[in-house]
Amino acid sequence: MDFCVVTMLYYLILLYISIHLLAFFFTDADFTLLWASLLGRKSEVKLKGQVVWVTGASSGIGEELAYQLARCGSRLILSARREDELRRVKRQCLESSSLKDEDILVLPLDLLERTTHEAKTQAAIEYFGHIDILVNNGGRSQRSLFLDTSVDVYQALMELNFLGTVSLTKQVLPHMTQRGTGSIVTVSSVLGLAGAPLATGYAASKHALQGFFNSLRTELYHYPNILISTVCPGPVQSFIAQNAFTEDLHKPVTSPGYQGHKMPTRRCASLILAGIANSVKEMWIAQQPFLAFYYAWQYTPTFAWFVTNLLSKKRVQNFKSGVDADSAYFTKPK
Ligand SMILES: NC(=O)c1ccc[n+]([C@@H]2O[C@H](COP(=O)([O-])OP(=O)(O)OC[C@H]3O[C@@H](n4cnc5c(N)ncnc54)[C@H](OP(=O)(O)O)[C@@H]3O)[C@@H](O)[C@H]2O)c1
Repeated sequence: MDFCVVTMLYYLILLYISIHLLAFFFTDADFTLLWASLLGRKSEVKLKGQVVWVTGASSGIGEELAYQLARCGSRLILSARREDELRRVKRQCLESSSLKDEDILVLPLDLLERTTHEAKTQAAIEYFGHIDILVNNGGRSQRSLFLDTSVDVYQALMELNFLGTVSLTKQVLPHMTQRGTGSIVTVSSVLGLAGAPLATGYAASKHALQGFFNSLRTELYHYPNILISTVCPGPVQSFIAQNAFTEDLHKPVTSPGYQGHKMPTRRCASLILAGIANSVKEMWIAQQPFLAFYYAWQYTPTFAWFVTNLLSKKRVQNFKSGVDADSAYFTKPK
């Protein structure tokens, strides 16, 4: 090869690595998702007119997804348990988009009531004729130490986050395989990839989702137009901390939760939509320094566990001394 070509190749590779290294300090998504969001298909184009079913649409990430999807021109099915909140979200979607009343179906649904999922799916299909995208987003977190936590809490977390999601997917997927097209997008978590204190049951339920959907994807190799995607956000502003399970099934969280260090919900939702529009199979979404941990856990697990254990020690100590769990990395115990 010509010396000039080799030199040019060398500089191109150097430039490629430098851009990625520089971008890494500022980015809040893995590189596949980042480049898809910057250079890929635009969600406003790709998702326009698509029928999208969002669970957990009454607050947090699901609510924001509904607003952004409405602005993209997607037709929506909004589900969660609180119908009044879903109606509020629908009103706001209509105010901020060109959608009409009939473009948004409010479909109250309890993920725990699995026997209702078939009829709810039928209702959604009858209303719009089909479903293009199911966003499995509804779920709850946990703030309690394993040694203090009732096994009932573990059962509830698995029933809601894992089985509820599997049950709805079981109803919607045959409709998509029949049409040969569709997307099942599941909001997992960074805790579907790694572990953290105070969230043993939550992490277990999200790991279960990762295992389930990664395996399901391999079974659907003969459906190239069906996307199975998992979204793994780090801390995002929402009501997740307030709604978390504690050590007893019916005991509420006492502190409202610190949000200062969390990613704005709007940014998280916009990255998720970019990922869907570009068929990204796994999305890592988190601000630095959290995002660095995803890479550390993936590529240097021994180092990652060393640092995680150091931070976990502080978090558990702070939690035991009554400091809010979400501010534990940022606030010293009183
Ligand atoms: N925020 C974060 O830091 C973060 C990070 C990683 C992953 N996630 C995941 O993101 C998803 C959305 O959470 P969020 O942060 O937006 O929290 P959120 O504000 O608490 O929203 C949770 C949603 O789930 C719904 N939900 C809860 N129990 C349900 C049930 N039994 N049946 C149907 N819907 C139910 C809630 O609606 P109703 O109460 O009206 O039913 C609500 O709309 C969850 O899967 C969570 O694990 C969040």
